[in-house]
Amino acid sequence: MDQLWIFLGRLHPIAVHLPIGIFLLLALVELADRVAPPARLGPGLRTLVLSVGLGAALTAALCGWLLAADGSYDVTLLDRHRWLGLSFSLLTALLFAVRRWPRLYASTLFATIILLGAAGHIGGALTHGENYLRPTVATSRRSVSPDPMQALVFEHVVQPIFEQRCIACHGPTKSNGDLRLDSHTQLAKGGKTGPAIKAGEADASLLVRRAHLPLDAKGHMPPRGKPQLTDDEVALLVWWIEAGAPAGKRVAELSPPPAIAELVASYLGVPRPPPPDRAAMLATAERLERKLGILIRPLTAEGPWLAANARLQFAQFGDAELAELAPISAALHWLDLGETAVTDAGLAALGAMKNLRRLQLDRTALTDAGLTRLSGLTQLELLNLHTTQVTDIGLMALGGLPRLRTLYLWNTRMTPEAVAKFGAQQTNRRAIARWEAEISALGARIRSEQFSANFGEALASPPAMPGPPPPTKPVPASNSSKAAPKVRPDL
Ligand code: HEC
Repeated sequence: MDQLWIFLGRLHPIAVHLPIGIFLLLALVELADRVAPPARLGPGLRTLVLSVGLGAALTAALCGWLLAADGSYDVTLLDRHRWLGLSFSLLTALLFAVRRWPRLYASTLFATIILLGAAGHIGGALTHGENYLRPTVATSRRSVSPDPMQALVFEHVVQPIFEQRCIACHGPTKSNGDLRLDSHTQLAKGGKTGPAIKAGEADASLLVRRAHLPLDAKGHMPPRGKPQLTDDEVALLVWWIEAGAPAGKRVAELSPPPAIAELVASYLGVPRPPPPDRAAMLATAERLERKLGILIRPLTAEGPWLAANARLQFAQFGDAELAELAPISAALHWLDLGETAVTDAGLAALGAMKNLRRLQLDRTALTDAGLTRLSGLTQLELLNLHTTQVTDIGLMALGGLPRLRTLYLWNTRMTPEAVAKFGAQQTNRRAIARWEAEISALGARIRSEQFSANFGEALASPPAMPGPPPPTKPVPASNSSKAAPKVRPDL
């Protein structure tokens, strides 16, 4: 039955248009009657129109009443709309009653139309938001200066995320949970539970915790069924809160790690450099192969991506040869410099290899100083450092590499303790926790879909769900005289 009420309530936004149409047309015809008398509306027809209109108005009001109980609407607007709508319905009844007294009828009709306009306007604001009709001059992320490092973090990155995902329910029109996210001041005030963010501590911030709840969980924001925050958007919000949630600071002032700098750039719509051209890269690769005596091969059937292997050149391949790879820098995904003569200084050439996924530097003269040259390799996933002089100090330089998942460290001076700590920092615990929650929710769904049948066999383990106990099997008669079954008196 509840479902029926909710359904009827939701008909309101449709049902209101019928009385609106009827009464506007009626007003028009009555007006035409005065101005150009031939457009006469006879008393019989007028009574018919009025009774249909009255019925439609009452139906719409009834549906509206049901909807008010169900929807999450702005309370002040809802209250106004409710009373205006009700007055309108009552006026249509009065109009019906006074239809035979022309002057009274005319003034009542006039009042009805005014009320109709007012109720309709607020109704529109309720469903679409107060600024629906005003074309918004968005604090557009596109209109920002081309250098993402100069963009204002709150105004150009954080605020647009809120505008897109949250303001419909947490803005000037509706402020669910008493929380408004339409300005830094409003945000700082917090909601009914208290502050929504804790500067410097993303994990302790209500806003982040709500966003990280599993989609199915009560309290997940934005609510299920509404457009959700993307992982990138969450990462940007978390970064801003961790940096102290300031207003008015520029991206550069918060010194974002390279991965965040990239997210900011892509969020602001700064175009990424296009991938290098395959044919040109393959041609250059062939030339360099011959010149340097190394192997350079395409990694994929399409695209320009290359794997270069200099290992077998040993001492023949040094810093000068590495520098020669410059024309194919952007196309390199894998690079093997193991056992070559490259030095810390020469690794500066790696700065341009922004797309590098795998890098082998084992058995080279590499030291901690060389590791600092890797800081811009935001795509790097695997790094082989075995048999080099790197220490725990060099490890710190790798902290800004968000995708680094595998390190080869045999025969180095890095300690397992420091590496374990590093690994913990590299792991995106938040994302993993969210995925685990999703997995457990899915597990519950799978279990709820599983069929089981029970033919009364005793179960090896107790059934997971409480249910009727399986019928007990009769104990088979035993031949052993020692354990002679007791004769039951009724046998
Ligand atoms: C469709 C409407 C809707 C959208 C969109 C929405 N919220 Fe909410 N939000 C609510 C409602 C309703 C409540 C109050 C009920 C509750 O606490 O769950 C709420 C409460 C909250 C609260 C708790 C406030 C307090 O102090 O108790 C936070 C924090 C929050 N929302 C954050 C967000 C963020 C961040 C976004 C955007 C990423 C967002 N919400 C988008 C409807 C929405």
